[in-house]
Amino acid sequence: MTVIALLMAAGSGQRFGAAQPKQYLPLLGRAVLRHAAEALLAEGRVTAIQPVCARGEEGRIAALLEGLPSLPPVTGGATRQESVRAGLEALARRAPPPEAVLVHDAARPVVPSGTIPALLAALDTHPGAIPAQPVADTLKRAEGGLIAVTVPRAGLYRAQTPQAFRFAPLLAAHRAAAEEATDDAQLLERAGATVALVPGAETNVKITFPEDLARVEAMLMTRLM
Ligand code: CTP
Ligand code: MG
Repeated sequence: MTVIALLMAAGSGQRFGAAQPKQYLPLLGRAVLRHAAEALLAEGRVTAIQPVCARGEEGRIAALLEGLPSLPPVTGGATRQESVRAGLEALARRAPPPEAVLVHDAARPVVPSGTIPALLAALDTHPGAIPAQPVADTLKRAEGGLIAVTVPRAGLYRAQTPQAFRFAPLLAAHRAAAEEATDDAQLLERAGATVALVPGAETNVKITFPEDLARVEAMLMTRLM
């Protein structure tokens, strides 16, 4: 199965608040997005990386991915969904397009081994599969600072990336999307398709705030020791 991974790096990192987008920041001497790309390629199941970046960053991201099997960068859009769509349309222009695609946040530098094989195995029987972690905290729905109700957490999961899809149904779901979805799986769900869960990992951190980068750095350093 040919598998191309979209490396989603067109965001501006507003919540992180650094001078440059978080995926370009150094983490143990390499850009966060380079860690993400190497993690996607580590098990040899991904044929190539398709980077999606903000306008004007094409040369920079290509240089950061030097030496890896990476396709020419594609320019993303104002929302993550628009950026994914741009990446998928670039893959659709390939002859032939890939059979499967992984959609991964460049801001997630750690993809534990085993995640991608589990996702691709799930694609044998489902059009989509995502890694997810069970919710550990007790959940409250609140209004005006007061608890309205405790939401039972049984059966609730936190979605991570990479998310894996057969290429044709994901492209069709994106082309048909009327409203914004918060991840790619949701577009497939709306189209009535089943999406499987595989085990996620606490180490698969999405860097959102500065303390997340510090946490991942500490984690990787302990591993090296
Ligand atoms: N992303 C993208 N195109 C966008 C927005 C986000 O490719 N228009 C990417 C980001 O670069 C990131 C991933 O999607 O790797 C997850 O998004 P998020 O963590 O929200 O990153 P940002 O949007 O950059 O951060 P913020 O929401 O804090 O501005
Ligand atoms: Mg965002």
